[in-house]
Amino acid sequence: MPAGPGAAKGVSVDIDGVMRIFSAKGRHDLRALGPIDMSVEPGEFVSLVGPSGCGKSTLLSIVAGLVRPTAGEVRIDGTPVVAAFDRLGMVFQKDLLLPWKSALDNVLVQVEVRGLRRRDYEERARELLDLVGLGSFEEHMPAELSGGMRQRVGICRALLHDPPLLLLDEAFTALDAITRDQLAVDFQRLCADGTTVLFVTHDVGEAVLLGDRVVVMSPRPGRVADVLSVDLARPRRLAVRESERFATYTRHVREVFESEGVLSSSDPMAEPAGRPARPPEPESHPDQVLADSPGESA
Ligand SMILES: Nc1ncnc2c1ncn2[C@@H]1O[C@H](COP(=O)(O)OP(=O)(O)O)[C@@H](O)[C@H]1O
Ligand SMILES: [Mg+2]
Repeated sequence: MPAGPGAAKGVSVDIDGVMRIFSAKGRHDLRALGPIDMSVEPGEFVSLVGPSGCGKSTLLSIVAGLVRPTAGEVRIDGTPVVAAFDRLGMVFQKDLLLPWKSALDNVLVQVEVRGLRRRDYEERARELLDLVGLGSFEEHMPAELSGGMRQRVGICRALLHDPPLLLLDEAFTALDAITRDQLAVDFQRLCADGTTVLFVTHDVGEAVLLGDRVVVMSPRPGRVADVLSVDLARPRRLAVRESERFATYTRHVREVFESEGVLSSSDPMAEPAGRPARPPEPESHPDQVLADSPGESA
């Protein structure tokens, strides 16, 4: 669902034949990734789901211009990425907050690093903290915050410069299940303004819950095993996970993983996994079936 009031904001990302080989002295070369071809539309939310070690973090680093591909190229809005791309926000599994700075100062850390004027950004930083429910925790130090709160501060930091591209690498993985669910739901609101999002996870449910599309990756060297369009109304609440349509998507991803040898079929007598059938195309008004029930609070 790339459209929206601020749809002009996001950038397009083209990943074209991208491959990465890591060489180390005295060891065999390791093909970590690819070749990968995929495109992300401006304002689109794309989930990348794949097994551990398949090259997801490497791919994000290549998109960010932090790691050079061995072959192929990434283009952002048509321009090849040849150095660190600074119009993006990144959120990692570890919150990477500076322990000696308050929540507010942590959100503002880039302002300092880039030598910008703090007062130009302070209001926005406070606004973002407020938006993620941390309005009264501005002066708290990281040690005084829960894991979920710290991760929210990290998200605010990534959003401070209003980046047209947001890269998340297992950003919610380290959190307990309840916090993680809540943050996933809240996060949609923060990037519903047309920001392009590449969301890396190894959690199939999370990938489907958040993505406009889900790119399923094969084991290392990670390639695109399948791409699914997720036709579920937004904003998506947690209750959507109990719907039959949601299950259709997660089942499909599981079947792709089975056919890629990532998971073994639970039925030992089953036929060898072939290419899984695609989920049915959307019917006329599928979203209405999934409209949030009024009492749903998450
Ligand atoms: N800097 C590096 N040097 C050597 N090998 C690396 C480096 N970064 C990642 N790898 C290897 O590349 C593969 C993919 O890693 P990674 O991108 O971190 O996977 P994922 O994020 O999907 O778990 C792994 O086998 C990993 O050990
Ligand atoms: Mg990783």
